Amino acid sequence: MARNEKLAARVHKRIAHLSGNKENKMFGGVGGLLHGNNLTVTIDDGLNTIPVHAHYGELLLDVLRRSGKPIPAPCGGKGTCGKCAVDVAGIGSRLSCQFRVQLDCRVTLPTLAQFAILDKSGIHARPIVNNSGLDVEARDSKKIVTYKGKKIIDEKSAVSTPMEKFGLAIDVGSTTVVVFLEDLTTYEVLDVMSFVNPQTAYGGDVISRITFCIEKKDGLSVLQKILVDGLNNAVAALCRKNDVDPRTIYKAAIVGNTVMQHILFGVDPRSIAFAPYTPKFVQEQQFSAATLNLSMHPDGVVKLLPSIAGYVGADIVAGVASTDMVDRAGYTLYIDIGTNGEMALGNKNKIYCCATAAGPAFEGANIECGVGGVTGAISEYEENEFTTINGGAPIGICGSGLIDIVAVLLDNGLIDMSGYMEKDFLIAPKEDCAVDHDIVLTPKDVREVQLAKAAIYAGIKTLMKIADVEFDQIERLYLAGGFGNYIRVDSGVRLGLLPKELKDRIIPIGNSAGTGARFALKSVAFEKEIEKVREKSQYIELSMRQDFNEAYVAAMMFEQTSSARSLDG
Ligand code: FES
Repeated sequence: MARNEKLAARVHKRIAHLSGNKENKMFGGVGGLLHGNNLTVTIDDGLNTIPVHAHYGELLLDVLRRSGKPIPAPCGGKGTCGKCAVDVAGIGSRLSCQFRVQLDCRVTLPTLAQFAILDKSGIHARPIVNNSGLDVEARDSKKIVTYKGKKIIDEKSAVSTPMEKFGLAIDVGSTTVVVFLEDLTTYEVLDVMSFVNPQTAYGGDVISRITFCIEKKDGLSVLQKILVDGLNNAVAALCRKNDVDPRTIYKAAIVGNTVMQHILFGVDPRSIAFAPYTPKFVQEQQFSAATLNLSMHPDGVVKLLPSIAGYVGADIVAGVASTDMVDRAGYTLYIDIGTNGEMALGNKNKIYCCATAAGPAFEGANIECGVGGVTGAISEYEENEFTTINGGAPIGICGSGLIDIVAVLLDNGLIDMSGYMEKDFLIAPKEDCAVDHDIVLTPKDVREVQLAKAAIYAGIKTLMKIADVEFDQIERLYLAGGFGNYIRVDSGVRLGLLPKELKDRIIPIGNSAGTGARFALKSVAFEKEIEKVREKSQYIELSMRQDFNEAYVAAMMFEQTSSARSLDG
């Protein structure tokens, strides 16, 4: 440790001691003697190190948030989730939401902040006609790009440079953001990049983001800016890597859940949090890149694709449209298991859709050792053996691993039908992990899984009832999203998360929301498909429905195993 870091650590400890507060929450007394407004927090995320200015007494979490570095804070800074812990040099692990900066210090982010997120897409997608609608011509030594009558004039000489045109397809999830860079001349994906939504530093789900917008005067602009900054960093990296001039990006198509769309567009999302959960807009929004300060040609066209309701967003609409669901006479069930477990059931005539408040258990939040789908996350589990994403020492359990573990413990009788588990179950001891604690599954984790799986199953049953459809009429179940890619169907069925009647018809389709965004970028005809989905769709609000509540209670129990035995033999 550098000499000044040692000194800083000693003084920090001394101040904490004198203020009589172990977590360093309070000030005054000797702390006040060192008051200053020009402190520097050096943040090391394992990839690079950046200095960030801090005020004396500022919460470390706020400094990290300002840095744009991804730091999970699912409880929104209440000190209850434990996910915001960082290593403060010379002091050790501290909850950043409870630690105040009093001196220059160096902070190392946890391994889970180094992300490697899935961005598979395009599986089982419908064929499309490539035509982005962008036309490029050279006139008077200028490059003139048009899109549906909108003229974008590039002042650079068009004579000496090739007539390049590029586009961005963007999927903004509450947890993960995926950015595709596409060549709109050859219609090839040049590259793709994903990163954790920097807004996770302000809460794990959309409700906590809305709460932040309500409680903080500048909350909406803070969340908007941090997301746009994250997007621009990704675009800059993609352009650098692929030798693309950002000014030659003329079109962007963006999907996301309805709250993310509101925040990105700078529209107050609070109405979505309160009954009747009405969003401010569901229609497509189109504006120029300069409006958002997006790193592309300032007159480039940005399209926020349309959604259906407050909890069925453009990600679901574009995802459904990217499949063959609206062309088929038979029924398809489409499920995207995330925080809200959105789903749609329908065919070429009619689509019913809903969102279940499944909670973020499968995204790692509310789970003691839960993490997202990142490097080192335990993603598969069989009796006493596990696999981590991208290999290496484990850092926690992601959604698919969680489902595997619960399935194994149900089979072995360590979890009973009611969901009761006597004590914590050890998955990986501390010495085998890349984190400084054992990785365990707790009885409370099992309850979280139980609530989530019951909500999703009850959602399926309610849509089936409304559509008057039986399991044998459902030809296929499309499992969308990164989680759907990893989940082991047997385990999902064992838990009762997925219907056993459809076990042989379950098809993971990857990041279909991203595919939908890419199709909308590349094909003006696909925009019509999206409208077709919206026209055929009927949103079902589950929260007030008696039949949903009954199905939810009925789905809470696990199925009994016939061969319960102990893992210890
Ligand atoms: Fe700090 Fe939850 S404990 S954000």
